[in-house]
Amino acid sequence: MLYGDTIPIDSKEEVMDRIYCKIADRYDINLEMMTIGMNQYWKRKFVRLMSPSAGLKMVDMAGGTGQIARNYLAYQDTVNNDTSSSVHVVDLNEQMLRVGKHRFASTQWAKDGRISFAQGSAENLVDIADNSFDIYSISAGMHNIPHMELVLSEAYRVLKPGGLFACLDYGRVETPIFKQINRWHVKVFAPAVARLVIGTRSHHERLVRSTMSFPHQRDFAKAISHAGFILPPGKGYELMQCGYMVAFYGTKPE
Ligand SMILES: C[S@@+](CC[C@H](N)C(=O)[O-])C[C@H]1O[C@@H](n2cnc3c(N)ncnc32)[C@H](O)[C@@H]1O
Repeated sequence: MLYGDTIPIDSKEEVMDRIYCKIADRYDINLEMMTIGMNQYWKRKFVRLMSPSAGLKMVDMAGGTGQIARNYLAYQDTVNNDTSSSVHVVDLNEQMLRVGKHRFASTQWAKDGRISFAQGSAENLVDIADNSFDIYSISAGMHNIPHMELVLSEAYRVLKPGGLFACLDYGRVETPIFKQINRWHVKVFAPAVARLVIGTRSHHERLVRSTMSFPHQRDFAKAISHAGFILPPGKGYELMQCGYMVAFYGTKPE
């Protein structure tokens, strides 16, 4: 078991994959409603804090329907006036990728070859060469994956020296009043939205248990550092909404 999760590690990947197959078509709308639109703000901020320069190649791991890819390319277009940067979206789940590919199909980014999709597991990126990307991002993906240490070591391998590791995931809210609000959100509001949008509470409950399995932000920052990345000065992570979401960054040494 992992951090109190109820799924044995050996079957976690398969169980999570089955759930994402079932919810893929309603994933985006469910997330928007569950976070009351905050999802877009967190993702924009996550990309902004990367402060990417023009022309960088990003791999977006567990990229799902391409929400980070879209934010990244939009940032490059508008802030850097750049049309040469690109994103490679990798995800285990073919249904999430199908929805993502469909969303991008008619965009200029797809026409210019600035976005690509591939199925694969973050634990073993067999099709990606060493030192090949400038940025590795993983948003709301790490908590799904049984062996986080393998994910970190693969991220380190595929990043170029000086490349940036960026992870956004659910944190631990510790401010008392926000802790209460968070508890109500997780136990009452979000399950009600899930029942309305995806038609069942059980997948949602399984997903929530998985988010709870994510380590405390302090411990995950240590894991990033143990994997060899240099953490930014300070705690090594940035809380959003008092820790409901946490953005982590680390640099592969030159
Ligand atoms: C909560 S969604 C996040 C999607 C997207 N990154 C976002 O922020 O909206 C989690 C994603 O992780 C993917 N995933 C789960 N296990 C994975 C693995 N071992 N390797 C790659 N992707 C995985 C799921 O298929 C799903 O698309």
